Amino acid sequence: QLSTTDWLWTACLICVLPLVLMTPRTAQCTSLKTLENKLIGRRRNMKHNLPINYTIRVHYEEVFKLSNISRLRARVEDLEDGDLQDVWLLVNQEVLKRILRVLPVRHPSYKYTTDLEDLFRKVQQVFPPQTDEREPPERIEEIYKRVKEIDSKGWRFVTPKSLLDNCYRTMHCLFKDCFSSEDREQDCEYKHWQ
Ligand SMILES: *[C@@H]1O[C@H](CO)[C@@H](O)[C@H](O)[C@H]1NC(C)=O
Ligand SMILES: *[C@@H]1O[C@H](CO)[C@@H](O)[C@H](O)[C@H]1NC(C)=O
Repeated sequence: QLSTTDWLWTACLICVLPLVLMTPRTAQCTSLKTLENKLIGRRRNMKHNLPINYTIRVHYEEVFKLSNISRLRARVEDLEDGDLQDVWLLVNQEVLKRILRVLPVRHPSYKYTTDLEDLFRKVQQVFPPQTDEREPPERIEEIYKRVKEIDSKGWRFVTPKSLLDNCYRTMHCLFKDCFSSEDREQDCEYKHWQ
């Protein structure tokens, strides 16, 4: 027969257990899955709620696609997945800032975009940056610098929807531990000859 205190202890254990089991990896995947779910709404929010073919101006570096990932992997020595994940986090947060800059507060996609920003902050909290441990390769540092430059020489006009498509696709390829291969829309190894 369990006494009331025993019951309380058991109940308590059951409620803290999930926290104990929440390893860093689980926390990372949980935050990414939440973001993934939110990104499913990108078509409505970034296309249907905007004028047809509406584009915004972004830095060259803010167009970060699968082809960029394979190119960097092929050309940069000592590149780690963490470096690419850091680039992905930085670039996409910049992209969201640019989208927000053109949306009035009462625009139907405004809240969606700020929600995405929050989710990105949550992802960032569970992924300690590579720079804490080592210097990233020069090419990566260069990307960081260019993204932050106010006066860039290279601008491109792209639709917000295509920026978030890039974000979504590259996410599945950069965080393979959290997504199964069925989640991916395409092969992560971009074929140069295509
Ligand atoms: C939007 O872009 C598509 C593809 O580039 C083009 O075929 C279409 O005519 C454009 N629509 C408008 C309204 O500009
Ligand atoms: C991705 O590749 C394009 C050229 O296709 C380039 O303009 C852009 O700077 C690259 N992005 C990054 C983050 O390297």
